[in-house]
Amino acid sequence: MPQAAPASFVSHFPLKAHNTFGFDVAARYACSIEHETQLAAAVNDPRAAALPRLVLGGGSNVVLKGDFDGLVLLVALRGRRVVREDDGAWYVEAAAGENWHAFVAWTLAQGLPGLENLALIPGTVGAAPIQNIGAYGLEMCERFASLRAVELATGEAIEFDADACRFGYRDSFFKREGRDRFVITSVTFRLPKAWTPRAGYADIARELSARGLGNAAPDAQAIFDAVVAVRRAKLPDPLELGNAGSFFKNPVIGSAQFDALQQREPDVVSYRQPDGSVKLAAGWLIDQCGWKGRAIGAAAVHDRQALVLVNRGGATGADVLALARAVQADVLARFGVELETEPVCL
Ligand code: EPU
Repeated sequence: MPQAAPASFVSHFPLKAHNTFGFDVAARYACSIEHETQLAAAVNDPRAAALPRLVLGGGSNVVLKGDFDGLVLLVALRGRRVVREDDGAWYVEAAAGENWHAFVAWTLAQGLPGLENLALIPGTVGAAPIQNIGAYGLEMCERFASLRAVELATGEAIEFDADACRFGYRDSFFKREGRDRFVITSVTFRLPKAWTPRAGYADIARELSARGLGNAAPDAQAIFDAVVAVRRAKLPDPLELGNAGSFFKNPVIGSAQFDALQQREPDVVSYRQPDGSVKLAAGWLIDQCGWKGRAIGAAAVHDRQALVLVNRGGATGADVLALARAVQADVLARFGVELETEPVCL
């Protein structure tokens, strides 16, 4: 196999177009990774060997508080293909730098349903497993087969199955112990041949009804179209209004704490979990505290979904974090519940 050209370093690299909040910050060095073998060379380069590293795909789940005094690895690995099939499923592999939404659309165009509920989630394929993206009744881990990641310390490529990834709600090994140690280079999805629609989520069911599809079993394309319409109506497009999707996780509390809360707040939006704990809708909690549409400077709570913080133009990461802290303090004071942030804050 021919050796890939070494990745080239760019100093004082602007990151505004590489984080979906649109923060105007820069990295000391950046380098674009177009081939897996470039990773080890980049991190061993004498200019960067002792510096912190940051892997950026679409930059859709990161809050950059200021300039990054280290090396940014811009994952630009491309390619997607059906790798194999067995009686039960098709297996589809995509390189980490592929745009997530374009990949979902491509799978449907190949006649392979299964990822349609995850349409229009910003970011790249490589970022999807890190926080186990999920929406409208489906989590990525349900369609996951395996992934390939390069260990930066050794340059070795390692295959991870679902167990090794330790997926949880918006969580995985790569968000915890594996953080900064591995770079995901490709992901393989398992798309079951016995496909059934997941159309039960209230917003999706409503949208399908509005399209005259309330009674018929929708096909994957109809679900894809409904998800796109619902997301466009509620969630801001990062190209128009900087944001990183949900800024907080939906908090999970114990059954006793929930019962006491429900006594005081009978309308609290909640979802009972299989283990008896209860997940609360953080958007509802924030909305009830009167934060929807409110701003501190140029950092604001989105006016159509209170779980999303936005950059109205010129906000810094510090502005967004100050807003987040004010929101967290009010939710804690009124409901006794701590909100955990979803994006990684650097
Ligand atoms: N709600 C309000 N006010 C708001 C927002 C929500 O009252 O401002 C209420 C809604 O009426 C609804 C409940 O809260 O009863 C839940 O709202 P929604 O269906 O919009 O979902 P969510 O729990 O707020 C989660 C994910 C989203 C995902 C949607 C749909 C998390 C942290 N967020 O939001 O994921 O798109 O469900 O499945 O789990 C993301 O992770 O970036 C993201 C956008």
